[in-house]
Amino acid sequence: MGVNKNKKSKAIKAISLSIGLAVMGSMSAASAADDQALLNMCKACHGNDGSSEFASTPNLKWQNTAYMVKQLEQFKSGQRQDKTMTKVAKILNKQQMEALASYFNKGKEE
Ligand code: HEC
Repeated sequence: MGVNKNKKSKAIKAISLSIGLAVMGSMSAASAADDQALLNMCKACHGNDGSSEFASTPNLKWQNTAYMVKQLEQFKSGQRQDKTMTKVAKILNKQQMEALASYFNKGKEE
């Protein structure tokens, strides 16, 4: 239990740092490096292949791509609310949503 908690708080620290970096990155033109940074941020919570280690984080592995894009759009528009995902979705454009959703739909580590 204790170990798991510690791991989670470490992960959360790393994640808030990457959210900060991603927000900064989104101000410049989108590049492959930005996309990789975005994917790493998603992986930190949702798992490398979309199977999450955290009970409070849903698995994205093999989920329908169109469904995931729709959820991200709803987080961005405020129709769906979550403390973290609302912030995360705001920095994504449609192309990035599609690319990330298609990565997790495959359910394979890259
Ligand atoms: C800090 C942790 C965290 C990060 C980083 C994160 N997510 Fe999430 N994500 C969550 C949590 C928690 C939920 C569940 C929210 C809820 O309960 O509504 C969620 C929900 C989702 C959902 C909806 C899943 C469903 O079954 O409806 C999608 C899609 C998603 N995230 C994609 C992403 C993508 C893509 C990224 C990277 C750009 C990302 N997430 C980054 C924690 C995170």
